[in-house]
Amino acid sequence: MALVTLHDILPAARKERRAVGAFNVANYECALAAVRAAEGEGLPVIIQIFQRLFRSEKGRDLAGTLIRIARRSKQPVVIHLDHGAELAQVGAALASGCTSVMFDGSMLPFDENAKLTSLAAELAHAAGATCEGEIGHVAMGDENAITTLEDAVNFYEATKVDAMAISIGTVHGFYKSEPKIDIGRCREISEALPELPLVLHGGSGTPIPDLRKAVENGVSKINIATEYMDTFLKSVGKQIDLLGSKFKAVDLFMDPVIDECTAHAARLLRFFAGR
Ligand code: 13P
Repeated sequence: MALVTLHDILPAARKERRAVGAFNVANYECALAAVRAAEGEGLPVIIQIFQRLFRSEKGRDLAGTLIRIARRSKQPVVIHLDHGAELAQVGAALASGCTSVMFDGSMLPFDENAKLTSLAAELAHAAGATCEGEIGHVAMGDENAITTLEDAVNFYEATKVDAMAISIGTVHGFYKSEPKIDIGRCREISEALPELPLVLHGGSGTPIPDLRKAVENGVSKINIATEYMDTFLKSVGKQIDLLGSKFKAVDLFMDPVIDECTAHAARLLRFFAGR
């Protein structure tokens, strides 16, 4: 099945009221675990590279590894640039073989966001890839801006993105207090744009009933970074404790870590698929 775009998997997910898990990965083990989880569950998966990695050689190097893992996968796998900050980064991700990109202009004024996102979408489409944009702003240590219905509709009309991230109360990273998720706004936007896959950023730690309702109301891609990476780091810590003063080759040391990450990703993929 292998390497696909958002267009190959999200419209069907939206129609069937399920979501695909999108896992941020920065290393081989987390990428392999997410794809193994998808294969184990018989479900598609999105593995995404955060834009910071494209500020050095890391993004390109990682994309090469991810493409190899995706190509041999028995399930559809999208390799996606997460939170692309500049058009040059979008170009670099596409040149590295990503099959999908996000351009995040959510901190910019509406017109500028729409203009740059539609240019990113043109670049992506010319490369046979897909593009995600964001309207409203999901906070990453700054202020959340809940997406208005009017902005959502106008943004889609102006950009024709393949998937649209909206802000309905989730935040990036672990929550410091109980989140208030605006399912009503999600429903309004999904009713106005009945075929467009919506994206939920800040999936980590979002209460399960809220995620379920979001999926019932048009969310077809759920981004998970913090809790997945936390599982990886805690699992490495556990293995170091078990090792004590002994030595183990790194590939063998990593095997149980990959297994724990696979179990974590599989649990989320199943849940997002409504199983
Ligand atoms: P979390 O780190 O909260 O899971 O958010 C991930 C995300 O939205 C990546 O774009």
